[in-house]
Amino acid sequence: MKVNNKNMQTIWMDNNSENIKIIDQRLLPFELKIQELNSLKDVIFAIKEMQVRGAPLIGVTASYGMYLSSKIDSSYENLIKTGEELINTRPTAVNIEWAVKKILNKIKNQSKEKNTDTILNLANQIRQDDINACNNIGNNGFELLNEIYDKKKDKVNVLTHCNAGWLATVDWGTALAPVYKAHRKGIPLHIWVDETRPRNQGFNLTAWELMNEGIPCSLVVDNTGGHLMQNKMVDVCITGTDRTTATGDVCNKIGTYLKALAAKENNIPFYVAAPISSIDFSMNDGINQVPIEVRDSEEISYMTGLDKEGKITKIRTTPTNSISVNYAFDVTPAKFINKIITEKKVVDATKNSILSLLE
Ligand code: MRU
Repeated sequence: MKVNNKNMQTIWMDNNSENIKIIDQRLLPFELKIQELNSLKDVIFAIKEMQVRGAPLIGVTASYGMYLSSKIDSSYENLIKTGEELINTRPTAVNIEWAVKKILNKIKNQSKEKNTDTILNLANQIRQDDINACNNIGNNGFELLNEIYDKKKDKVNVLTHCNAGWLATVDWGTALAPVYKAHRKGIPLHIWVDETRPRNQGFNLTAWELMNEGIPCSLVVDNTGGHLMQNKMVDVCITGTDRTTATGDVCNKIGTYLKALAAKENNIPFYVAAPISSIDFSMNDGINQVPIEVRDSEEISYMTGLDKEGKITKIRTTPTNSISVNYAFDVTPAKFINKIITEKKVVDATKNSILSLLE
């Protein structure tokens, strides 16, 4: 998608150096810095510290982590250990586990000399598949936005939480892909961008993406959604997902559940955009089975922004020595979700409908 009118993606292999490159998302929207990942250690740092984030993108990045590790030791034993390390970096999103398993399955019966090439090919494939999946999610989700526009014949107001745009994937995004497609097809849109405390992915990333694409948006603090919905200022909510169970429970950024409750109460459709790689077909109960990542409490007690001199600065906003607890995700039960938009088709948040994706 566009950055200053040039097309960019979030992760790529440099044609000359064959190094893996990413955008360091910790610095957005203030600075666009490209970072090289040259070792497994770099990849683990990038995922843990959220230089890259968003379920699909951390899955793709982890695949390149497997490749970089295999360049040092391509034995199956080392790659099993690498996979475990990668999965432990961010436990909630299923995409890392999905990518690691895909790679280990592919190499398990071959000689270790072949592993590095095989893993690189597969990582490139996983990256390309993510682009294709998000493109198709965009097309399938466009139909839903178009239906709303056909009925309303006026600007469609979409509320989104966290960042599930192209920065959370390789390109296009999940929740924002339908928005980008609809905008390009001339549907008038306005996006309500939830701040998404504590790391502010809505303000820092979603708003930056939308503004670069020229899509009208307004930034609101996390508690505003209910008021907007009561006052008929939201036509549809679309979010991403970090892990969706086979029964349609959706684990996504903390605060998603409260938006879904407000949407239900106000009869507003709540859609989740989910690449099939983010569906965990082995789980049936989101609340009891999905591991919820608890992050460093500093993310709550400090905020980062530009100071008056234009320098990126971190400031403390809570009493010294106060205790904060940083749950990064919550689970929205299936009954609050109207549709799940996948790359294959739009399904209901029910087991039968979700299992039909495997046919
Ligand atoms: O903690 P983050 O920024 O990785 O959380 C990201 C989200 O919750 C996204 O909404 C989710 O990964 C879906 S992204 C396509």
